[in-house]
Amino acid sequence: MKSSLAALSMLFLATIAFSAGNKSSSERRNTRYYFDLGPAQIDVSGYPEIQQKNYALFAQTCSQCHTLARPINAPIVTEKGWRRYLRRMHVYSRNSPVKLTQSEINSILSFLVYDAKIRKVKDRRQFLAQSATLKVKFAKFEKKRLLLENKKNEKEEGRSYFYSGPSPQP
Ligand code: HEC
Repeated sequence: MKSSLAALSMLFLATIAFSAGNKSSSERRNTRYYFDLGPAQIDVSGYPEIQQKNYALFAQTCSQCHTLARPINAPIVTEKGWRRYLRRMHVYSRNSPVKLTQSEINSILSFLVYDAKIRKVKDRRQFLAQSATLKVKFAKFEKKRLLLENKKNEKEEGRSYFYSGPSPQP
């Protein structure tokens, strides 16, 4: 009785572990950078009111094509750096529903620079530690993705990538 209970709970734990490691295919496709794997929101309750408002606009705007984790955990801190990204993202936006006025762009830029100062510069040690963890996680993630891709390709082509014919004669 005791051992079957133990076996049952093992099975239960294994199921949880399996489903936790089994990322959805859309998540696999949308993860392109290590920073995609970090938190997708910021606790702005301690930020000035104006930056809380700017955060709302940033969150709504910048989560439309990728998750908010991408800009939140990206190692970009300077105004110049963010300006470059905003311009770049704006180029993508030409064919997308995202249309921003100059004042909205300024609000988002203001938030990104303020937030980077707080989380990425002032709290640099913590941010770097988190980035290091995410990089390790991402390396594992990429390895698994490659494995899955190879498996899929093999199945689709119905053959192995490895030569399995007779050895060549000298
Ligand atoms: C219309 C779609 C779209 C919107 C809206 C969008 N992005 Fe992106 N973003 C992309 C794509 C596609 C990539 C990957 C290709 C690239 O980096 O050029 C990307 C990549 C990024 C990267 C990582 C790029 C790198 O090379 O390191 C950051 C940071 C980023 N976006 C920030 C933002 C911010 C901030 C906003 C909001 C102002 C935003 N994105 C809104 C499409 C979008």
